[in-house]
Amino acid sequence: MEDPHFTSKLLLFITWFLFPAMVASVGINYGQIANNLPSPERVVPLVKSIGATRVKLYDADPKVLKAFANTGVEFIVGLGNEYLSKMTDPNNAQAWVKANVQAYLPATKITSIAVGNEVLTFNDTSLSGCLLPAMQSVHNALVNLKLDSQVTVTTAHSVAVLQNSYPPSSGAFRPDLKGCISPILDFLSKTCSPFLINAYPFFAYKANPKQVSLDFVLFQPNAGITDPANNLHYDNMLFAQIDAVYAALNRLGYNKMTVQISETGWPSKGDDDELGASPENAKKYNGNLLKIISQKKGTPARPNTDLNIFVFAMFNENLKPGPTSERNYGLFKPDGTPAYGLGFSGIGVSGGNSTSTGGNSPGTNGPGVYLSPPANSSDGYMDISLSPEKVIRSSWRRLGMGLMLILMAMAFDI
Ligand SMILES: *[C@@H]1O[C@H](CO)[C@@H](O)[C@H](O)[C@H]1NC(C)=O
Ligand SMILES: *[C@@H]1O[C@H](CO)[C@@H](O)[C@H](O)[C@H]1NC(C)=O
Ligand SMILES: *[C@@H]1O[C@H](CO)[C@@H](O)[C@H](O)[C@H]1NC(C)=O
Repeated sequence: MEDPHFTSKLLLFITWFLFPAMVASVGINYGQIANNLPSPERVVPLVKSIGATRVKLYDADPKVLKAFANTGVEFIVGLGNEYLSKMTDPNNAQAWVKANVQAYLPATKITSIAVGNEVLTFNDTSLSGCLLPAMQSVHNALVNLKLDSQVTVTTAHSVAVLQNSYPPSSGAFRPDLKGCISPILDFLSKTCSPFLINAYPFFAYKANPKQVSLDFVLFQPNAGITDPANNLHYDNMLFAQIDAVYAALNRLGYNKMTVQISETGWPSKGDDDELGASPENAKKYNGNLLKIISQKKGTPARPNTDLNIFVFAMFNENLKPGPTSERNYGLFKPDGTPAYGLGFSGIGVSGGNSTSTGGNSPGTNGPGVYLSPPANSSDGYMDISLSPEKVIRSSWRRLGMGLMLILMAMAFDI
């Protein structure tokens, strides 16, 4: 090669070619506290219909893990809080990992195990005390089975682990949790595992509807707020919450840690005292959120970091306890039809006449695209649900453009 920089140019080109061509990745929580959900086989096309490439489970349901084999969908499996004390025993952890993770790899792409959910904010010191030991023995089991390079171990926290979240730059963990959180952060950092946070601007609105602007929580146009410490401007609460988490991590010296939003969502129905829970607001929240994910926006404090978000949730779950909102977070009803008009056509999964063509009903935009209104290239919605064909086509376009750029670079010896 005459051009000494050819290799680096080629590498640059390959990176440029591969990464932007990837479809922005949506994650979805697949909760199953219900007795009326469709079979996992029928959920596969539904997950694909919303453009989700990552699914988070609250257990390691064998039916789900089998149904999603060879689909390319990545999984976070869960170990419920009730297992924590048992998992502190290395033998139990090893048996669990063998039966629930190793057994499904590599056909089902399990990438992470979430040990416990929102453990620290139960204020149950004996449960909290088991958390890190359980995470460690699950990780050690993965090491023993030589799976630790492909499967990370983490745990999901509620934003209530923060003492301060406003303004975002003042974000800090609850002082009484620091003794617990610091060693967990140390573990996550050493094992290159992400920090998971469940963030619901809905709760902030519900608790304080007179003071919290609905437009600010729903990603609608609004004046927003400016963080006086760094002049960063926030036009939605979720970004403010995420940056408060980054600030809290920075404060403890973990400024490189990856943050994933393991849950966020909005209920389409609630009790009389649950202001804001409505199909209109759920549509605005989740619709705008999906648009933002597809635009690959970062937060004001981390503009170049992709949002890593798991929407809550796939289905309305009829057996969840608590207020009405708890049973109404689903993008879909149990019959597979959309819970509200988010633009997904869903798939008829009840009854015996399902044609199982991947949910592609007449009038949609071709294989894999389930969105109405029809394609509008300036509409962020389309990007998250590009059909494989379109991705490939756009990849070839990029390839052509990339080659041209390289040739130009070589010609002008840039
Ligand atoms: C846990 O403790 C914190 C701090 O003392 C308190 O603010 C919070 O309300 C408690 N949460 C629960 C679920 O008891
Ligand atoms: C399937 O379609 C046929 C013909 O339209 C109808 O008679 C039958 O009741 C349908 N079955 C179900 C389970 O919907
Ligand atoms: C496409 O989106 C743009 C910008 O949002 C809008 O102005 C235009 O009316 C849309 N076109 C169609 C056909 O929906």
